[in-house]
Amino acid sequence: MKETNDLLAVGIAGSPRKRGNSSSLLRAYLEGVSSEGFKTEFIYLNGMIFRGCQACDRCVQGKTCSVKDDLNTIFSVLQRAQIWALASPIYYDGVSGQLKMFFDRLRFTTYDPYKLKGPRRGILIVTYEDNKKKEYFETASQLANYFTWNDRGDFGKVRVVAESNLGPKGAWKSRPDLLNKLKDLGKKQARELKEFY
Ligand SMILES: Cc1cc2nc3c(=O)[nH]c(=O)nc-3n(C[C@H](O)[C@H](O)[C@H](O)COP(=O)(O)O)c2cc1C
Repeated sequence: MKETNDLLAVGIAGSPRKRGNSSSLLRAYLEGVSSEGFKTEFIYLNGMIFRGCQACDRCVQGKTCSVKDDLNTIFSVLQRAQIWALASPIYYDGVSGQLKMFFDRLRFTTYDPYKLKGPRRGILIVTYEDNKKKEYFETASQLANYFTWNDRGDFGKVRVVAESNLGPKGAWKSRPDLLNKLKDLGKKQARELKEFY
């Protein structure tokens, strides 16, 4: 059994706004996880220089990712973390380019010997400006399904949160209900996971 303080949650912020809507909901989620004794790490993709997947297929052959850039520095954290929390704004009906490039680069975690092992939890948070649109929930759900692709660890069911009417950078500040919702979700997923460790 792991000590609670060996448990780790990694938050990946896909927005260029460090204190914008999606990152703030992500921070609230991590706060909830942390209150259950997990360590948390917040990673700001926009501050890193990295390329998308080069489709070299080295990882398919069991070798490490051939692209050497800032993203490689966080791979070990991702492999260790029992919770992956990803957040992004909706840009032209999809997630941000930063998050999509990051996601594509995770392909190596679906092949041995880098395949993730052990129970995990995941969440994908997206925020957008328009009124509620089920299409955005579906878009986020499609990407979230790939958390579990190729038996990638055991993420259980990946949670998707898609929140509307969050245009301006500080829109989240008038939505304490959302912050509470995310904090509660963080607590819930952390508690579920503690059962396994
Ligand atoms: C380049 C760009 C494209 C956007 N495209 C959409 C869109 O297709 N639909 C939408 O509802 N909001 C769109 N938005 C608004 C953002 O999704 C919204 O402001 C979001 O909450 C920003 O999150 P953030 O504060 O975490 O960056 C767009 C914003 C930008 C900058």
